[in-house]
Amino acid sequence: MEQISFLPTFARWQVAARRALQSEISPEQIAWEEIGQDAPALSLFEEAESPNESQPAPKFPVPKRFLALAKLVALHREASRWPLLYRLLWRLTHGETHLLEIVVDPDVAQATDFEKSVRHDIHKMRAFVRFREVEHAGEKWFVAWFEPAHHIVEQNAPFFADRFASMRWSILTPDRCAHWDGNNLSFTAGVPRSEAPGADRMEELWRTYYANIFNPARVKVRAMQAEMPKKYWRNLPEATLIPSLLHDAPRRVETMMKKSAAKKIAPDDAWHPASVPETASLTTLRETARGCTACPLYKNATQTVFGEGPKHATLMFLGEQPGDQEDLSGKPFIGPAGKLLDRALEEAGIDRDTVYVTNTVKHFKWEPRGKRRIHQKPSSRDIAACRPWFEAELRLVRPKVLVCLGATAAQAIFGSSFRVTSERGQILESEFAPRVVATVHPSSLLRQPDEETRDREYALFLADLRVALRAAEEG
Ligand code: URA
Repeated sequence: MEQISFLPTFARWQVAARRALQSEISPEQIAWEEIGQDAPALSLFEEAESPNESQPAPKFPVPKRFLALAKLVALHREASRWPLLYRLLWRLTHGETHLLEIVVDPDVAQATDFEKSVRHDIHKMRAFVRFREVEHAGEKWFVAWFEPAHHIVEQNAPFFADRFASMRWSILTPDRCAHWDGNNLSFTAGVPRSEAPGADRMEELWRTYYANIFNPARVKVRAMQAEMPKKYWRNLPEATLIPSLLHDAPRRVETMMKKSAAKKIAPDDAWHPASVPETASLTTLRETARGCTACPLYKNATQTVFGEGPKHATLMFLGEQPGDQEDLSGKPFIGPAGKLLDRALEEAGIDRDTVYVTNTVKHFKWEPRGKRRIHQKPSSRDIAACRPWFEAELRLVRPKVLVCLGATAAQAIFGSSFRVTSERGQILESEFAPRVVATVHPSSLLRQPDEETRDREYALFLADLRVALRAAEEG
């Protein structure tokens, strides 16, 4: 029996596993032993040095899916994940190249289960982290306490850095603590619960905010409890408000219905989050969005291009921003990329009239080149300003499956560390929709250098659409 002691991270496991594979050590011959940062590495595969400094470990070709799966499984809390990953790696490199397609295989099923549980935990952390304001060296700092089920803090921290870029914050957990000083992310060892700041002004602020966003027309008590399990309540200042808000709900629904939905939005050059009316009507949203000046893009655009499609579509497509033709017509995805999308939808068996199609940013961003208007990528400020619109569309349409077309849409949903190339065609979870499938933007297919690559990329795009359709049909 060989004992492999290693720091329990994916990168360290990967180096050790590659060397074990190279020496043809079969899974039954290995005892995987996790060591702490300070513990001595005991055995055959000394792991004290960082993987980059060590002798490069040999590489073995494995499907991309395995890498994506293994990176998430490595974050699971069960120690059995390491031998499980090695068994999968061993089998994939010993003749079972299509192993991951056999969903009933016990190793594959177990790994998929671990992956799902980790994704779920990542989603819960994004939904339930609540910051409280504290003073730190004379400056405001926001601190949150969270108890993750798995080792997800480092993986999830870039999402919070993106979302709360202008705040300085720390997320404390018993495993690892993440810190953002406005520019850099850093990590320190975990802390006991007593280090988390208690109730304070931040808590009050959060409660006021929650009471404001609480939409009584959407209350579904059972669903609410399922989404917000009791375990998370003690960290949630708003949990104490729920009984009184529920009691008050009928009166608030009535008041809401009486209110005229559209609010006037003052013209403003600066970027600020769009003010979205509290409404259950997509038409009201669309009408209000016409006057949106939350970022400067409205100045050079012909009009706001809002989403289109049935209100209760089960599939929703999120693109980047309208192009030249969309800007002129006011309709999403009707230009060259839209035509390609139409063709692919038809071939995948999806009727465009039954799906809701929209964009992350609702105005065309362009620069002049001669007589042409050339597409410019929206900035993170443009996206942040426009975000309330697509979030509101998601809340009203409530699709079973959201399809992100391209990196802008996928990163708006999953944060800037998300990579479409490695996660495309997977069924993912997010707080925005029960299932999300990310794929490439159809315009990327139009940019392929030759017909052969174009055909291959188109086939992959079709396959991703079919995954989304199946997920929507599964209910
Ligand atoms: N590209 C997009 O992302 N959206 C459109 O509506 C058109 C092109």
